[in-house]
Formats: sequence, C-alpha cells, structure tokens
Amino acid sequence: MTAKTQVPHDSTGARRLLITAGPTREPIDAVRYIGNRSSGRLGVELADEAARRGWAVTLLLGPTHMLPTEESVRIERFATTADLASLLERESAQCDVLVMAAAVADYRPRIGARDIAGKVRRMGEAMSLHLEPTPDLLKACSARRRPGQMFVGFALEPRENLLASARRKLATKGLDLIVANPLETMDSPTIEATLIDADGRQRTTDGRIDKARFAAWLLDRIAEHDRSLTTGAAAPGVRADPDT
Ligand code: CTP
Repeated sequence: MTAKTQVPHDSTGARRLLITAGPTREPIDAVRYIGNRSSGRLGVELADEAARRGWAVTLLLGPTHMLPTEESVRIERFATTADLASLLERESAQCDVLVMAAAVADYRPRIGARDIAGKVRRMGEAMSLHLEPTPDLLKACSARRRPGQMFVGFALEPRENLLASARRKLATKGLDLIVANPLETMDSPTIEATLIDADGRQRTTDGRIDKARFAAWLLDRIAEHDRSLTTGAAAPGVRADPDT
C-alpha cells in the first residue's frame, strides 16, 4: 500500500485537480464515429483517490461506462475533441493541477452539419474519408497557463522509443510531468510507467501495477511536485533514475 502524502491546502480550501479521461468520438455521420480503445479507467481511479485525499476534483469524462464512486467528484461529459476543448477553456484556468489522461483524437472527419444529420449510404464502391487535424489541447492549455499551475500529460508510445518520445512531448507541450506508458496500457487494468519531470529526472513503477495502485503512486508524486511549486522546496518523489 502506498503511503498517503498530505495535500497542501491554500487559503480558499482544497487544492483543485482537473482530470480528463476516456476516449473522444469524432462523428462520420449521424450514426458512426472514429473512436479509440481508451476505457478512462486510469483517470477515474485518479479522481476517486484524489477526492479521498481531500483534493477538489473535476473530471472531464469521455464516452465510457467507467464512473467514479466518490460523490464529491464533479463530472462533466464530452464526446468530441471540440467538446473537450470547450470544457478545458472553461475549467483549466481554475485548477491548480491538470492531469490530461484523455485519449484525444489527432484527426477527425471533415464534415459539414448536413452530413451529421444523415447516414452515409453504401454505394458499392470505394470511398475515402477526408480527415483534418485536431488542435493539441494540452499545448493550448499550456499557452494560457497562469503561474503556479502544474500540467501533467501522458505519452502512449511503442516501447522502442517510449522515453525519447515522452521527453519530446513534455517539452513541446510545456508540461511539468509526463507519464510515459507503453501501448499495452490502453484498455488494460494494469500499467507500467515512467514519470519524467521538466528537469529530465525520472521514476519508474515497480513493474506492471493495477491502475488503482498507480493512481495512488502518481498522486504522491503530484502532491510532492505541487508542494515544491507552492513552497519552493525540491520535489523528493521524482529523482534521477540511474538505470535509464
Ligand atoms: N493530447 C491533447 N490533444 C490532442 C492529442 C493529445 O491534448 N489533440 C494530449 C493527451 O491527452 C496526452 C498528450 O497530449 O496527455 C500526449 O498524447 P499522445 O496521443 O501520446 O501524443 P500526441 O500529441 O497525439 O502525439 P503523437 O501523435 O506523435 O503520438
């Protein structure tokens, strides 16, 4: 069992944690969409564990059957990347820590409102979908961050280039911490991950652990980093890993 770290409180009460979780769904027409296999489990476990520790938690949750059990977690639902972008625009300024665990689409079908109202018919011949890039939501949040906010991202990558890609994403998205995890993590009850900070220090889980345990592990690290931001003390939980 991971030891619980005390969450620092400010004068207004509990520290505010904003978590995004689950997949996005980008409509092709009125009945079809492009989605992904994210279950949202990790973000939901994180929301529950943080609420138990006294954080004020808002969970932006995509289309999934997973739900938090802690009643204090405030939930807002999204389906598309655009929905999530609007929610983040409204919510991100008010949080102390943002954890972006949602599996956000990188491309979406370019369609007009007329197409969404109907159903694409089978024509018996090949067809192609025109996809347009979606905005990088985390990068947009970073661009409007206020001093003292902490941003945590995830990098889902093939094992071969896991850490190098995660470091690149940490820098390009302007993050404090990034969780590098291999592709097998998606839709799995377990996770094996390395947490990297902006100074390049990293820490790895003790092999594959279940996501509830990982939520506690990650929250310990986040609370330490959050405390170092608010008090100026070093974050002891993220240390150099001599093996990598
Ligand atoms: N993310 C985001 N907006 C997007 C895509 C991803 O905010 N349009 C966030 C994810 O929630 C995650 C982080 O960025 O916290 C990294 O996501 P990932 O899918 O690993 O990386 P991408 O930015 O999509 O880059 P690539 O396609 O090269 O993997």
